[in-house]
Amino acid sequence: MAVDIDWKNLNFAYTKTPFRYVCDYKNGKWDEGKLTEDSTVKISECAGVLQYAQTAFEGLKVYTAEDGRTVAFRPDLNAERMACSAKRLEMPVFPEDKFLEAVDMLVKANCEYVPPYGSGASLYIRPVMFATSPVLGVKPAVEYQFRMFCTPVGPYFKNGIKPLTLRVTDFDRAAPHGTGHIKAGLNYAMSLHAIVDAHNLGYDENMYLDSTTRTFVEETGGANFIFVTGDGKIVTPLSESILPSITRRSICYVAENYLNLKVENRQVRLDELKNFAECGLCGTAAVISPVGRIDNHGEIINFPSGMQSMGKTTKKLYDALTGIQYGRLPAPKGWLREIKK
Ligand code: PLP
Ligand code: COI
Repeated sequence: MAVDIDWKNLNFAYTKTPFRYVCDYKNGKWDEGKLTEDSTVKISECAGVLQYAQTAFEGLKVYTAEDGRTVAFRPDLNAERMACSAKRLEMPVFPEDKFLEAVDMLVKANCEYVPPYGSGASLYIRPVMFATSPVLGVKPAVEYQFRMFCTPVGPYFKNGIKPLTLRVTDFDRAAPHGTGHIKAGLNYAMSLHAIVDAHNLGYDENMYLDSTTRTFVEETGGANFIFVTGDGKIVTPLSESILPSITRRSICYVAENYLNLKVENRQVRLDELKNFAECGLCGTAAVISPVGRIDNHGEIINFPSGMQSMGKTTKKLYDALTGIQYGRLPAPKGWLREIKK
């Protein structure tokens, strides 16, 4: 039976779908893993996740391609990044092949919730891992749960592709040698006050700076930056404390190999923002969202691309990336994992 969802008007929000995948780690090993209809989790009040935030998550999308195939975009990289997150947080690694099998099982079981081609929506997959056994002294737990659920979503930013206004924030989301490069829940807890404050002041997002010198651009709370120079070069900030975005890495590949653009991954100084022609945020949720204006403590940087539409080069990147994701352009080998219903 077809589900009754207004695909075109979906927000980036949770809609409960019938099945989720759950796998528990106990006595030093992961169990078989299975699908369940139970969307709730019952754990000890003293569970490691509740006391010391021992948890990491991922985010990836599944699309209906132009030819009707159901495809996941580079889920192998999410499996790999989740393994890095687990290691950094002293959690057991969830095997990468099991992760991919879970994606297949989950999507097949919830196949009616994969938005149709052309709707602009996608099925967002949220893998999450957390410490379930009790800990009181500060130490890693011994039991964990890996869970993967999915929910159909629309655009992350409400205004779709209208350029965003950011402010440079004095808050930090990650410390040098900390956890900024992994997808730990604690990084997002760190960013909540800053984002509420930004929204209250009328900004869409925060631009975080490096917390040592406050002179280099890092990222936002949920996306990496891409900049375009006046002569059409792509520049992306290099930092050890930002999340290695799969979207950003894909865009850089697409820029070089599909669009013949030069790409520089290097430190980006705050004081060079005014020289860029275009700016965008990139991520699974954000896809590529244009930024029109940045407020640096009263100094306003208005990108020449303006506040009405995406810059020319950003649009080319957007069209190429989404073209690959929706199967309109040939994908590099291994980028799309087809899920047979
Ligand atoms: N940076 C942060 C802090 C994020 O939460 C995300 C989202 O996952 C990204 C960047 C973009 O990463 P990806 O393109 O892998 O989704
Ligand atoms: C994603 O893009 O998948 C994320 O996890 C970012 C989050 C802000 C929704």
